[in-house]
Amino acid sequence: MLTTNKYYIFFLTAVLVSLSLHAHSEGLPAAPPQAKALRCERLTDPMGIDARIPRLGWQISGEERGLRQVAYQVLVASSPGGLAKGEGDLWNSGKVFSGQSQQVNYKGVPLKSRNNCYWKVKIWTTTSEESRDIVNPGSKKGSGSDVTESSWSQPAFWSMGLLERADWKAHWIGYEKGFPWDSVSKFSRLSARYFRKEFSSASPVKKATVYIIGLGHYELYINGRMIGDQVLAEAPTDYTQSVKYNTFDVTTACSQGMNALGVVLGNGRYFTMRPKYKPKKIKEFGFPRLLLQLEIEYADGARQRIVSDDTWKFTADGPIRSNNEYDGEEYDATKEMGGWNTTGFNDSRWLKPELVLSPGGRIGAQRNEPIKVMDSIRPVAITEQSPGTWILDMGQNMAGWVRMKVRGERGDKVTLRFGETLQKDGTLYTANLRDAKVTDMYTLKGGGVESWHPVFVFHGFRYVAINGYPGKPSVDDFEGQVVYDDIATIGEFRTSNPLVNQIYRNACWGILSNYKGIPLDCPQRNERMPWLGDRAAGSYGESYVFDNENLYAKWLDDIEEAQKPDGALPDVAPAYWNYYSDNMTWPGTYILVAGMLYRQFGDKRSIEKHYASMKKWLDYMRQKYVRNDLMTKDKYGDWCVPPESPELIHSRDSMRNTNGQLIATAYYYRLLFIMQYFARLLNRPQDHDNFLALAARVKEAFNAKYLDSRTCRYDNNTVTANLLPLYFNMVPIRNEDAVFNHIVDKIEQEDKGHISTGVIGAQWLMEGLTKYGRPDLAYRIASNSDYPSWGYMVRQGATTIWELWNGNTANPAMNSHNHIMLLGDLITWFYKDLAGIASGEEGYKTIYMEPFMPDSLGEVQATYRTPYGIVKSAWKREDTQLLWDITIPANTSAMVHLPSQEEEKVLEGGKGLRRVKDIRIVDMENHRIVLNLGAGTYHFKIRQ
Ligand code: BGC
Repeated sequence: MLTTNKYYIFFLTAVLVSLSLHAHSEGLPAAPPQAKALRCERLTDPMGIDARIPRLGWQISGEERGLRQVAYQVLVASSPGGLAKGEGDLWNSGKVFSGQSQQVNYKGVPLKSRNNCYWKVKIWTTTSEESRDIVNPGSKKGSGSDVTESSWSQPAFWSMGLLERADWKAHWIGYEKGFPWDSVSKFSRLSARYFRKEFSSASPVKKATVYIIGLGHYELYINGRMIGDQVLAEAPTDYTQSVKYNTFDVTTACSQGMNALGVVLGNGRYFTMRPKYKPKKIKEFGFPRLLLQLEIEYADGARQRIVSDDTWKFTADGPIRSNNEYDGEEYDATKEMGGWNTTGFNDSRWLKPELVLSPGGRIGAQRNEPIKVMDSIRPVAITEQSPGTWILDMGQNMAGWVRMKVRGERGDKVTLRFGETLQKDGTLYTANLRDAKVTDMYTLKGGGVESWHPVFVFHGFRYVAINGYPGKPSVDDFEGQVVYDDIATIGEFRTSNPLVNQIYRNACWGILSNYKGIPLDCPQRNERMPWLGDRAAGSYGESYVFDNENLYAKWLDDIEEAQKPDGALPDVAPAYWNYYSDNMTWPGTYILVAGMLYRQFGDKRSIEKHYASMKKWLDYMRQKYVRNDLMTKDKYGDWCVPPESPELIHSRDSMRNTNGQLIATAYYYRLLFIMQYFARLLNRPQDHDNFLALAARVKEAFNAKYLDSRTCRYDNNTVTANLLPLYFNMVPIRNEDAVFNHIVDKIEQEDKGHISTGVIGAQWLMEGLTKYGRPDLAYRIASNSDYPSWGYMVRQGATTIWELWNGNTANPAMNSHNHIMLLGDLITWFYKDLAGIASGEEGYKTIYMEPFMPDSLGEVQATYRTPYGIVKSAWKREDTQLLWDITIPANTSAMVHLPSQEEEKVLEGGKGLRRVKDIRIVDMENHRIVLNLGAGTYHFKIRQ
């Protein structure tokens, strides 16, 4: 990813973009604008979606300044031929006078199961001033001579999945007990189950589509060929609430004559890692099960359906002897069953599967990207730590698995044990994995080089202890495969400070390590749970690096499904662990993430969909816990503040910790405030007024209780106690400066420029310091390399982010080295405040650019791929001037705050501002000149 391929592709693209810009300035004819990068439900050519009103979006090619769309036409046809002829039998939008090019709702004939939809877009664009403001539908604008009509875009595609329950003719199959070699106990060992079915196709196949749910994980084969490159499929959910199917076009995999379907089922979260253990806490679903439906259309119009039922055969006596996400996978190659997934295999000793109950959840299409092997890493070293024990060093803490090459005797056993760090004596450190065994075992079949990696587990590790390897292993025998959701890296950020760059890199590795169809807390120990609180403000920062819209939209569904009838929301969702502790800071993530999706991606639908459940939760919390307008219930406090002694996990010092009720009430206020915004967006004036009125009362009670009006301190004067009310706009205006000064004094004098908050304070700290005028102090905190700081982690050799500030000395009971919650708002601050890239309101249709340039930082470069295209901001100090390059994507505009008060000191492309026709000077704000810029690239020079 960041290290290798994609990183370069990203930069290559940036280089190509700038080359083509150059070409234009050299006077070469520019290609006319056109719609490109067409996406449906934010996916490229998705198969089997179940949104009945899909949302369509496209970007616009072309680099001319001020380029924007004034009208569009969408054609959706049921066949490629029809589309080519310009027929829109499913939808012909006609020419729509609108600048909208993202989140465009399909408005054609109602879509049905299995519809194939071929689509293309034509746009009308302009660069002229007159058309620059919002276009009125129906007005004559957009048809004048300054308007260019594009040719049709490249065609794109989506298909509908099975929308009705009645579409499913398949039966759930499985087997409801273990086998003699299995163990259904705390440390479960359950072998994979192999299913097979042969069928014959009478004539040439015109189209074949398979719909599959294989719980917990599946691998699908047709005629020996693996279908798709997804791993650990399908997306994890609470299977009693919903189960997700995947759809594949398997036309080319099926042939006339006999065919064989093969499916391997692994356990995943369905057959839980710790069954029969703490049943009140750990949710169990049952034994693995399969639902599969293959639909074939023949050239002569005939149709055939192959479904899972009790005519299939299965065995659990294959090579995968055990697969447990915490404990590892065991593979015995001597048990391989050559040809099991092809035709003609003798399965006479295989068993008949049972028809089993459905898991209970509603069946729906998987809407988020599948998990894949996204990158690969070559290990940096291998050493023989003690006779027969080798330590492999990946050079990077990562999540995924190791692919191993080995040659030896039949029956030789190699074990691979994974860990994040080493002990002083060079042995693997495993205490912080708690009871997770994290051990893969491979038994050789012998007879040549064997290559293997597990398929139904993943590990979080940097080091691997290898035992039993025949001969002398070298680094070339191993490859680290990095496994996470197939989402693009859309942000790139770099400064002139290498330490800050390394912190950023560690953060990226931490984020991607923990994307597994849900956002996990950590990938290594016996936990790996989607804790809500870890993602509260952090999800916003993550969205600058990764295209995580679908992942988080899916997670909101998981959270809603975990809501209890009384309105309670969990701390972990899907609720694999049963924690409903009722607090504001963990479940509140439900509301914060919906806000992030709207701001970063323009996704209003998630707000519409979840609004009622959010409101229900806030009502529940109010009725149960609000007393005298204060939220009296909290659970986690300012989780993980730097403690008073190095081995502690949680501080016991009342002066370091922040009052839980203060935190809860401040968050309650913040969430009410966001809800009033949502209510306004959804046009619910009564709700809007109610939320506002409630928020006003909460604010008053909060200040009466916690603000010392004499000293202007909140409660015990921790940074978090003062910061939350300040950043949430709860402080009476006359007291704001004083409250801010307490924060600054505390950081500068007591903390000597260091962070003293835990997860909660860190969510607003960098932005808070910047907003109130001290970006330099934020930068000081961000660039520290002594304890406690992100830089301290780097200095201790971390390649990801730790769970605890004192992660090198703390008690191993809770000491992951690959957590991201302590990042707080750091990544947001990098992009939004240092680079100055922020969404104006929804999904970057308007862009807000106001970089803060700390005196001691020389340079920042960032690019961010918004739904409309790439925004770039790169600034650099050079002698007595500041250079700032900006790129704004087509069909957007930006409010740009120049760090100067004097117009005559600013040049763009060598000219004074008023001489550049594409620039509008709007205002002067906070001692900055504010410009309104249309799309395009601009080069500012600002004399200091
Ligand atoms: C998890 C955290 C989580 C916390 C809350 C920890 O064990 O790893 O990330 O938020 O518990 O209790």
